Amino acid sequence: MDIDPLTFNINPSKIEEKITRKTKGIIPVHLFGQCADMDPILRIANSNRLFVIEDAAQALGSEYKPDPKTRVQTAGKMGDFGCFSFFPTKNLGAFGDAGMVVTKDPVLAERTRLLRVHGSHPKYFHKLIGINSRLDTLQAAILLVKFRFLDQWTQKRQEMAKRYEKLLGNLAATLAGFQLPVTQYENRHIYNQYVVLAPERDRLRQFLQEGGIGTEIYYPVPLHLQECYAFLSHRRGDFPASEKAAEEVLALPIFPELTDDQQAYVAERIKAFYEKG
Ligand SMILES: Cc1ncc(COP(=O)(O)O)c(C=O)c1O
Repeated sequence: MDIDPLTFNINPSKIEEKITRKTKGIIPVHLFGQCADMDPILRIANSNRLFVIEDAAQALGSEYKPDPKTRVQTAGKMGDFGCFSFFPTKNLGAFGDAGMVVTKDPVLAERTRLLRVHGSHPKYFHKLIGINSRLDTLQAAILLVKFRFLDQWTQKRQEMAKRYEKLLGNLAATLAGFQLPVTQYENRHIYNQYVVLAPERDRLRQFLQEGGIGTEIYYPVPLHLQECYAFLSHRRGDFPASEKAAEEVLALPIFPELTDDQQAYVAERIKAFYEKG
């Protein structure tokens, strides 16, 4: 189903029309570090008896509708499962591939533990057909050390997002189609990525590249147009908001070590691109 054009997260109003007798669950992705709109998603899941698996790969520490008076709803804790990635580009990155699955349900937890070791328990007695998905000790040791810095790194990213808003707010207000990230419900956005919508995105990207500024496109091809899903027979036009995002999104540099000067230079180059036309 299609995304919300402002947050790029799943659009809850499009979910129910897609549910069939075969539907088992909903997998909302907390994209770029902001939680998907979980209240309607959990309501729909409840009333249709569906699992919710949160893809919190980019959202470690992000919070949905934080309210100091009530329980904080953290990414990964709201559904039946929360899945996190510690791929090196994530806010908490390992030295290689790593990840984590969390669940509050002891039965599901036990099953997940079994699946990660080829379904074997005790060793060499296989109860299930699983996979090899262990987090190796070296990665765990690195993550434990880096974890101490996560909050301060996240705070840096949030400050940088605020700074981009200051530097580029005027451009966003005056240039049609140029959109800065939108935060819903005062969510705690952890800015794994800072993604803008930019007219003439590919030319802008090239211009920034020539100025020594690396950017990325998350993601150039929406799922329904990926070759691997051709068997679902979707066509261009089926999910217009996702298609528009794929053509216009651009992730600007954001990482704790980015300096104020570098950030100012990024903003200055973007403005220079649109000024020269
Ligand atoms: C939204 C999202 N989901 C899932 C993944 C997969 O995570 P991993 O590479 O750790 O398996 C990623 C990582 O790139 C991601 O960004």
